[in-house]
Amino acid sequence: MEIITKKRDLQQKVLSIKSGGKKVGFVPTMGFLHEGHLELVRKAKSENDAVVMSIFVNPLQFGPNEDFEAYPRNEKRDTQLAETEGVDVLFIPSPAEMYGSGMSIRMGVASRTDVLCGKSRPGHFDGVVTVLSKLFHIVMPDRAYFGLKDAQQVAVVDLLIRDLDFPVELVPVDTIREEDGLAKSSRNVYLSEQERAQAPMIFRSLEEAKRAILDGERDASAIALKLERKLKETGGVIDYVEITSYPELKPLARLEGKLLIAVAVKFSKARLIDNMIVDIRD
Ligand code: PAJ
Repeated sequence: MEIITKKRDLQQKVLSIKSGGKKVGFVPTMGFLHEGHLELVRKAKSENDAVVMSIFVNPLQFGPNEDFEAYPRNEKRDTQLAETEGVDVLFIPSPAEMYGSGMSIRMGVASRTDVLCGKSRPGHFDGVVTVLSKLFHIVMPDRAYFGLKDAQQVAVVDLLIRDLDFPVELVPVDTIREEDGLAKSSRNVYLSEQERAQAPMIFRSLEEAKRAILDGERDASAIALKLERKLKETGGVIDYVEITSYPELKPLARLEGKLLIAVAVKFSKARLIDNMIVDIRD
């Protein structure tokens, strides 16, 4: 595995890979890798000739009171995991390398961000599309892999690729979970023992909501109310419970079509998100 820290070096490397007619799969991450990230790598390896992974904790997508400084980092372990999984090129730029010359261009996302994390984290997705635009230009991938754990991010990247005509195929990958159902997340390390024991309730409550919908419930507020009641049992503070269309992310009163049930719960040191996509089209 080759480790590259400079943008220009990476572009050269990718151009030489692609000049041989090879396809490049890209897995963007913020590091502190876990099975969720590694599943994206496996999918990318199975569909491309070479896989590029980036590790960059992007300051632009964190709000002033969020956990940018405290975001967990472990470059040595990440490097070993990426190598073992067969990543061909690992791109680890510094913030100065990514943003050193400043940013005079501002990007803003005008759809699919007035709900869920876009609503509770103002500016978050502007930061995400900014860094991804830069990374797409630097890595020039044929395909890019994103986890449905962040279903809103997938919906926003879908817009980014279409609106700005990036010649990249978006590949969504299902959420990888712990045995007890808790979605794998870099932030899970910040749960106390008691919070960790309660957190799987998030998944169970989503499953219950999905079951109720599949059994015929069509009233979104009834489902949301039940979800909130269950989520309170985690001991966390509910940030949001929302049911929207997917991928358009329009709030729904009466459930129809392809749906996203999404929740965010704040624990003492970590805010966890999870979701489920349910398709009730005939
Ligand atoms: P990060 O949170 O590190 O996640 C990197 C990728 O891994 C994202 O596509 C995310 O959806 C996926 N992922 C995380 N947990 C997962 C799980 N349990 N199962 C499946 N996939 C999972 O998302 C980001 O970084 C950043 O916003 C980024 C896209 C890198 C831009 O800075």
